[in-house]
Amino acid sequence: MAFGRRRGILALVPSATFLFILLYLWNINHTPLSASRHPSGGGAQQQQPIKDWQPRPEFSFWSQLPKHYPPTSMRPLPQGRPVRFPRVQATNFPAEASGTRRRQLRERREAVKRTMARCWGSYRKYAWLADEVAPVSGAQRNHFGGWAATLVDALDTLWIMGMKSEFKEAVDAAEMGINFTTTDIRDVNIFETNIRYLGGFLSAFDLSGDVRLLRKAAEVGEMLYKAFDTPNHMPITRWDWQSAARGHKQEAPASVLLAEIGSLSMEFTRLSLLTGEPKWFDAVQRIADAMAAQQDDTSLPGLWPLAVNARDAIFNEGTLFPLGAMADSAYEYLPKMAALLGGQLPMYKTMYEKAMNAALKYNLFRPMNPTGEDILVAGQVRADGRGKFNLDPEGQHLVCFLGGLMALGGKLFERPIDMDAAVGLVNGCIWAYKSFPHGIMAETFYSIPCNKSSPDARAVEEAPCKWDENVWKREVLRKAGRDTDKDAEALAAAADTVIANNRLPKGFTSLPDRRYILRPEAIESVFVLYRVTGAEELLDVAWDMFTSIEKATATELANSEVRDVTSPEKPKPADSMESFWLGETLKYFYLIFSEPDLISLDDFVFNTEAHPFRRLVAA
Ligand SMILES: *[C@@H]1O[C@H](CO)[C@@H](O)[C@H](O)[C@H]1NC(C)=O
Ligand SMILES: *[C@@H]1O[C@H](CO)[C@@H](O)[C@H](O)[C@H]1NC(C)=O
Repeated sequence: MAFGRRRGILALVPSATFLFILLYLWNINHTPLSASRHPSGGGAQQQQPIKDWQPRPEFSFWSQLPKHYPPTSMRPLPQGRPVRFPRVQATNFPAEASGTRRRQLRERREAVKRTMARCWGSYRKYAWLADEVAPVSGAQRNHFGGWAATLVDALDTLWIMGMKSEFKEAVDAAEMGINFTTTDIRDVNIFETNIRYLGGFLSAFDLSGDVRLLRKAAEVGEMLYKAFDTPNHMPITRWDWQSAARGHKQEAPASVLLAEIGSLSMEFTRLSLLTGEPKWFDAVQRIADAMAAQQDDTSLPGLWPLAVNARDAIFNEGTLFPLGAMADSAYEYLPKMAALLGGQLPMYKTMYEKAMNAALKYNLFRPMNPTGEDILVAGQVRADGRGKFNLDPEGQHLVCFLGGLMALGGKLFERPIDMDAAVGLVNGCIWAYKSFPHGIMAETFYSIPCNKSSPDARAVEEAPCKWDENVWKREVLRKAGRDTDKDAEALAAAADTVIANNRLPKGFTSLPDRRYILRPEAIESVFVLYRVTGAEELLDVAWDMFTSIEKATATELANSEVRDVTSPEKPKPADSMESFWLGETLKYFYLIFSEPDLISLDDFVFNTEAHPFRRLVAA
């Protein structure tokens, strides 16, 4: 709902239709914010920095704390012109052409909004300014610093759903009620704080133009920047903030997770773009430079190991190469940085292409499944350092983000092979959802990879493989640690017991984690693929996902993580609702049922917490 863009259209087209004027008036009436607005229009070229972004004096502790290791050089923001990327969104959305379909979509998004209103209402009533409301007991939870994680994560969702009075109340409360000078937790998780709080404020600012939100972004940005005050300017990802506040020197740890160090770039860069202050961009660009320099020298060239050494800026030692948990968003941010910066730094495209070329060859696999569906899953690879790679065929809900990402990368960089993989990966997650009794996939699972024609073949180029019940049962026993050295009949009988006891759907060989914790990645990728292809059937896939999730997780107050999605009855709630349910999952559900120009992927790029940032686009 880009205010600036609408105004831009009116300025450019003096004979704007009545409809535009109506929209314009509607927007004024529904944005009762005493805020300054984007001086330049929507997805425009390089924009002028916003004035008055500095934290208020009461909140300027971190910016005034002396630095031990001020950088001797500061990389300026790119000054060039954005390149013209190919269009990301489809040009044709068949669903938009049918009146019946449009009415149905309106009902669907209203249903999503009702869920949002229920959850937000409970948060407001029982846990206002706490991180989370517990959705069964109504208790307050503070796992993310106690800075109102749910409130900040949900701001842009409220805006997008047109819940403007709730939005205003939340911004008013955040302005003075959230204080990043202090917290009760010992170690601040820099990554989570970055994606949820900094990302949440930036995107709420990008949508509303309320400068108070940019100030809050700068406040949290100043705190996060202190974690980079180390000899080599690499960040401390789990940060003892009290020690830093007391003025002690600090250094980055020798072992950090790839995702935690590699997914700070979008938020820091957007903050620098909006404020004109380059220090945040400089800080994350140092990380990207080190990753780029070492990308070809890892034991799986193109990918970085799960754990890297921040203290010595070593990104190429280690043997485990997942794309899911603890690695995921480091890859996600490569094409997204290209989109955010209008392609001004070609290194991000290069890094993305190298990473996906490796993933297509080694991580992506076709899981053997009973109906022979042409689907893909992204597993993790163990390298022995001598050119031998072992695939661990684990699937994760988290790694479902990859389908959407490869659809975006495939469009931006015109890589049809990525588009093919994207479709396979999204269908893999849809298959996993449909395989479970409540229509929701488990947090993690194992399956059986189909054999490749050669070790060098890309998963997307392989023919589908045939279902073999005996192969499945043997693997079920092996995963359960049972003896497989039996005749066929005994093997099948033993496996049937394991399958029944563990409630394994066909094709799944074990379920290390049976929870569903309200995660967004499956609907995220379905949403992106819908916007990219316009494929109407994805709307019904999304509706099935939404109704399944609502049915299995709704509580009187809100929605709850559930303990076991294989349970024959309604799964037991775990009394937890992380902020991403409101920040991400419900937002993607709402957007897929909305008109495709609401947060168009040609104007916005989502951070890993589903916060849309404005892209720099060619004039
Ligand atoms: C924020 O917290 C710090 C440390 O407790 C305190 O000194 C400061 O006054 C607080 N700021 C506001 C505006 O409450
Ligand atoms: C792959 O090939 C091996 C060796 O021929 C065989 O034992 C295994 O069952 C095959 N896997 C699948 C999924 O077909």
